Amino acid sequence: MKVIKGNIVSATGFGELTILENGFIVLDKAGKIAAVTEHLTEEQKRLPLMDYGERLILHSFVDMHLHAPQYPMLGMGMDLSLLDWLNTYTFQMEARFSDVEYAREVYQRLAADLIHWGTTRVVMFSSLHTQATWVLMEELEKAGLTGYVGKVNMDRNGGVNLQETTKESKRETLRWLDGCERFQRIKPIITPRFTPSCTDGLMDWLGRLAEERNLFVQSHMNENLEEIRLVKELVPDCDRYWQTYAKHRMWKDHTVMAHCVHIDKDEIAALKEANVVVAHCADSNINICSGIAPVRQLVKEGVWVTLGSDIAGGAQLSMAEVITMTIRSSKILAMQKQEDGNFLSVAEGYYLGTVSGHKYFGSGEGFCVGDMFHAIVVDDSDRISLGRKMTVQERFERMIYRMKKENIVAVYSEGKKVLG
Ligand code: GUN
Ligand code: FE
Repeated sequence: MKVIKGNIVSATGFGELTILENGFIVLDKAGKIAAVTEHLTEEQKRLPLMDYGERLILHSFVDMHLHAPQYPMLGMGMDLSLLDWLNTYTFQMEARFSDVEYAREVYQRLAADLIHWGTTRVVMFSSLHTQATWVLMEELEKAGLTGYVGKVNMDRNGGVNLQETTKESKRETLRWLDGCERFQRIKPIITPRFTPSCTDGLMDWLGRLAEERNLFVQSHMNENLEEIRLVKELVPDCDRYWQTYAKHRMWKDHTVMAHCVHIDKDEIAALKEANVVVAHCADSNINICSGIAPVRQLVKEGVWVTLGSDIAGGAQLSMAEVITMTIRSSKILAMQKQEDGNFLSVAEGYYLGTVSGHKYFGSGEGFCVGDMFHAIVVDDSDRISLGRKMTVQERFERMIYRMKKENIVAVYSEGKKVLG
């Protein structure tokens, strides 16, 4: 067991911060939180102490939607809109991952960078390549991340270098799943890329497989108007995009749907009823001009909303930057709608980018006794002094807006120190 000391900023609810100045978190042998307290008992005082002094102890970030094989193309093709961007840059980039050595090089770097930016849990897309997907899972696990990774399924509209036949897709998915049993903390998730990439036959098979093997599902939905029109054209018997997943049993509890930008009352009700998780990706939605999701409305109506970097639609791996982009985009929407003050606060953004994602992995709200410890230690002593003592909350807000890699001096994942 051990004790960690610092200024603890806990997101105990949507928009609710609980701050413990010079507080203590006691960890048990397994890395689970045994106590969060202002005062240690005599017994706890005898445990080894990691004293972080004036530094901030925050929840680590959770990136609920990103594309690993797009990491090398951050910031590229940003003048295009979704479908052109996919066809011009993205599919060609992903096709490179038939080369396992190249995959190793990129994924090592990605895994290390995620930890350096304080992200410890992920729900991630690989490419359609089985071998490279295992490499990705290995590298994430080695770096100390936890999460779900999907071998992508796509048996139509991919182009020459990035498409499987339906038969190959099924065969490779089974082979991939067999090889996933060796991983402890990185688990497989069923990943039809999005409806335009998968035939009905493949979707149906994937839905049944997910059900039989008790696997979660991730995909994309309602990202861009052109894409929504394409889905209507491809699946004329479904009135709504979500029904193209529901039809094949993939619209269910813990299914992660990236985007959900263009969304109406009926679709919101469908999300809520099935407990589908929205991975909102503000940076990506602005970069490729997809639109602005009504995030605050979704949360207020009871939808489970989390955040994703969606690299490389998003151009930032840093979830602190994704949080601030999320806040800014909610402000743009509030201004457009002339709804004064109806935007995300810093505390709300922090909740969405951390705890709301940690809940996907079974954690509670805030730093809870019994949960695995996932945290970052932030040192802001490089910042210009205000010439007065700042409150912990002020320092926290400044860091969410201005956090650099160098400010993250330690990272804990599954109770273990993986950086610092
Ligand atoms: N929809 C289907 N594939 C993708 C992708 O790679 N990125 C984004 N942003 N949207 C998608
Ligand atoms: Fe995406």
